[in-house]
Amino acid sequence: MYELTRYSQICVEDQAMQSVANWLKDEIDRLFAITTKSIGQQDIRFRHSPVLDNEAYKLRVDHTGIEIESNGNAGFVYGCATLMQLMDFDKDRQTLYVPHVSIHDAPRFRYRGVMLDSARSFQPISEIKRLLNLLAHYKINTFHWHLTDDEAWRLEIHAFPELTDVGAWRGSERVLEPQLHSIQRDYGGYYTQHEVAEIIEYAAARNIQVIPEIDVPGHSRAAIKSLPHLLVDKEDSSSYRSAQNYCDNVLSPGLPGTYQFLDTVFEEVAALFPSPFIHIGADQVPVGVWSDSPSCHALMAEHGYHNPKDLQGHLLRHVEDKLKSLGKRMLGWEEGNLVNKVSKDTIVYSWLSEEAAINSAKLGYDVILQPGQSTYLDMAQDDNVNEPGVHSANTITLEKAYHYEPLAQLHPDDPVKKRILGMQAAIWTERITSPETLDYMMFPRLTALAETAWSTNNHKDYRAFLSRLKRHLSLLDRQRVKYKHPWPTGQGIQGAQYQTQRQ
Ligand code: ACM
Repeated sequence: MYELTRYSQICVEDQAMQSVANWLKDEIDRLFAITTKSIGQQDIRFRHSPVLDNEAYKLRVDHTGIEIESNGNAGFVYGCATLMQLMDFDKDRQTLYVPHVSIHDAPRFRYRGVMLDSARSFQPISEIKRLLNLLAHYKINTFHWHLTDDEAWRLEIHAFPELTDVGAWRGSERVLEPQLHSIQRDYGGYYTQHEVAEIIEYAAARNIQVIPEIDVPGHSRAAIKSLPHLLVDKEDSSSYRSAQNYCDNVLSPGLPGTYQFLDTVFEEVAALFPSPFIHIGADQVPVGVWSDSPSCHALMAEHGYHNPKDLQGHLLRHVEDKLKSLGKRMLGWEEGNLVNKVSKDTIVYSWLSEEAAINSAKLGYDVILQPGQSTYLDMAQDDNVNEPGVHSANTITLEKAYHYEPLAQLHPDDPVKKRILGMQAAIWTERITSPETLDYMMFPRLTALAETAWSTNNHKDYRAFLSRLKRHLSLLDRQRVKYKHPWPTGQGIQGAQYQTQRQ
């Protein structure tokens, strides 16, 4: 064991490493109340190692101290995350113990994400930061931020203040109606561009890129209600019902205002978010849209389209070209009207099934895996009637989350696998209205999914995970994370196995 005390120092080779060293110092202070003195001994050393791959790191702990090697800040963050998971705190002696180890580690997937729906429920930026900091502990490198939906628009757009003046609020006297959890009161909020910049900087210090999602052309009710002069097609008498039962939530490809809206919004979004990627949703456009709109029929005639659904490809290609002109790559949910309707530069997020991912990859698209059956953390964690969460995609126990093996049906050497850039967990929040519920739905299942995103299957073992988790819960406790306890009977690992076998 190596001992760290208040006299331990973190020593960096150059200034570029300092932000990660500061993170480690702040976390040791926050988690263990060990504030290091300014004079001390150089116990933790960061070393630049240009021969290591991107995101790889080495962590060595021996009697001389702790050394983390990496070729850049990503590896330093991961080395620190592992180091913190290894620490044991002796309260009486105010000392941290770290076992002697020699680790050479690198991720399985280059993309390891979490999607948070901030449209249905609004999380203040303090809560977003708390979540980002937790994600860094599990080597998640992408925060996919779902900022707009039918129920709200959460991002300040300078050109259209109505989007947040109107679209960020629900209530009985508001344009947008109350929803499940806020029938009796006005509810809402939005992120200013200044706050978003703060979030991006905070995330970057933890090696997390922030990808915004502006969900179009479906799931656009909040925008349509905010900007009716641009986005309502008065001549359109089509009738449809969206998955969430709306009949007025789809942008019209036949209106000039739609393109003015899209171009202006994406210009501001592209300027605000440094990520080279922008997610444009493209999911759940209902059957029946645009079929009785004279302007949509005129557009179909102009381009020789035979089916109103072809207009979705038309609109998405417009967005793709616009994003390319802004230096951004388009990302969208896998649906029939995305794949093969846009160029192969678009990255497909598969949410419906693994087959959808494989089919998209076979067509030549890069793919991110987010199968709802295994990665939707708003799904209930067991079948108890009192258990929070929904069951629409699945019931996802901790064990099921852990056993998700991406594309298990493919041969390990199948070249299609090269198109899979990574995977992510997602959380939809209509029913997740407090930080405590968010914690409960995310933890510890996120630790299981994060392990799959990082480690290849031959390095995974559920029993070993549970024994590490048992120890790890104290770190979550220190942060007051209100996780679902894996062993509510207090019987330890045996209890957990009995429960999971019975399901
Ligand atoms: C989705 O769950 N509609 C992407």
